[in-house]
Amino acid sequence: MNLIDVLIQQHRDAEALFEAWRHTPDEEKPELCLRLAETLTLHTTLEERWVYPVARTVVDGPHIDFAVEEHGEMMQLLSELLRIRHDARRRDATVRQLEAVVAQHMSEEEREVLPRLRKMDSGVFGPSSDEIVRSASDARREAMRQLETSAPV
Ligand SMILES: [Fe+2]
Ligand SMILES: [Fe+2]
Repeated sequence: MNLIDVLIQQHRDAEALFEAWRHTPDEEKPELCLRLAETLTLHTTLEERWVYPVARTVVDGPHIDFAVEEHGEMMQLLSELLRIRHDARRRDATVRQLEAVVAQHMSEEEREVLPRLRKMDSGVFGPSSDEIVRSASDARREAMRQLETSAPV
C-alpha cells in the first residue's frame, strides 16, 4: 500500500474507534481509551517523522507548524484521557473534545496536504511504506510511554 493510502486508512481507523465509543459498554471504555491513544500516537509519530518534512516542500511551512500544534493538542487530550479513563463521568467529554480536534485536523490534511503529496514520487519518503510503518510502531512505544508518564493514574 502506498504511504498516502496508509495515512488515509489510519484516519478511517481512528474514526471507527470514535464511532465504536458510542456503542461500547462502560466497562470496555478504559481499553478503548488505550486503543485510541495507540492509534493516534502511531499516526502522529509517522506523520511527524516521515511525512511532514516532505510536506514542508509542497505546503507552506506555517501550515505544517499549525498541524504539529494540533498534534500537540491531541496528545494533551490523550494524556488527560488516559489519566481519567476509569472515570465514567468525565471521560466522555474528553473523547468528544478529542474527536472534534481529530476530525477537523484529518479533514484539513485530506483536503490540503495529502493530495499534493500523492502527486510526488513514492521514493520521496525514503523507506518503503511497510518499513516506515514498522519504524513508527517502534517509535510509538516511546510516545505512549510519555503519554502515560505525564498521566499518572
Ligand atoms: Fe496529522
Ligand atoms: Fe493524519
